Amino acid sequence: MSRCSSRCNDPLLALLQGRGGEPVSGVAIGRDLGMTRAAVWKRIQVLRSAGYKVKSMARQGYVLDEIPDLLTRDVMEGWLTGEIFLPERYHFFPKLASTNALAAELANAGVPEGTVVVADSQTHGRGRLGRVWESPSGVNLYFSMILRPAVSPRHTAQMTLISGLALAETVAGLGVATAQIKWPNDLLLDGGKLAGILTEMAAEDDRVHHVVVGVGINVNGEMGSYSPEIQVVARSLRDHLKKITLRAPLLADFLGRFERWYGLYLAGGFAPIREAWIARSGIRGKPVKCNLLKESFSGEAVDMDDEGFLLVLRHGDQELKRVMAGDVTPL
Ligand code: BTN
Repeated sequence: MSRCSSRCNDPLLALLQGRGGEPVSGVAIGRDLGMTRAAVWKRIQVLRSAGYKVKSMARQGYVLDEIPDLLTRDVMEGWLTGEIFLPERYHFFPKLASTNALAAELANAGVPEGTVVVADSQTHGRGRLGRVWESPSGVNLYFSMILRPAVSPRHTAQMTLISGLALAETVAGLGVATAQIKWPNDLLLDGGKLAGILTEMAAEDDRVHHVVVGVGINVNGEMGSYSPEIQVVARSLRDHLKKITLRAPLLADFLGRFERWYGLYLAGGFAPIREAWIARSGIRGKPVKCNLLKESFSGEAVDMDDEGFLLVLRHGDQELKRVMAGDVTPL
């Protein structure tokens, strides 16, 4: 059962959730909320039609049995408690081509930093290097955050690293201790991919107009619903935890963690992120295969530098290679 913070905008829902599974009578609800019993009953019907399972217990009253796994602004309003990702900047759509595509349009139109675009499903979800991000409805998280950091375009990839760190922490908070960040943009679990990040930006000379960080997390998706190629590489929280995870608190938890690290980054630069990222990636000293734009080679991931680039000692070389972009896979 989830909580509803003080920002929950539905007093009836807040009251039912506050009872923690204990029944509350229609009379008591009416008294607390200043409504007639008939009005209470009508509001209960509205909650039920929105997917909330509210049980009526003879002579005892109503019990909130199950909350729906929805990502609408109404639901998220109760969960968003930060300073950047405010409920009024939260935009939910049942279906979009791509949350990154819409977020870029909104960013070009001038919406503020902290705008988040979320879709229940995507028809043209996109991954890095022109790949497709399969996005079935009702099961996973697909969202894009709009940021306007005052950094050089060279450093916008650091937003990917902050996201990866926040993702790893969020998943660890669910008791998944073995997820690891893969430089620069994946979260790996049980030998496959649990989440991916696609960072896109608009910049001019040395000025960033906006950065769109798109995140896809395989939450409750059943592997059978993906194409055979994706089934081989994808992992979901459901596979690992053997249970369903509600998406709204998961998304809010991620946004809260991201916001904290992002605040530290804006105030103090990349150094604190670097330390925490390295600890969560476990990449230091690992053998890796680097598939870069112009070359591929194997080596040892020695470190991440103070800008977020990976330092790899190529097999047979004496000098460290600074990897700025590409796919780096632990061997
Ligand atoms: C990758 O691993 O290649 C990055 C995948 C990023 C997928 C997310 S889903 C939400 C957002 N919208 C998109 O079209 N892509 C990103």
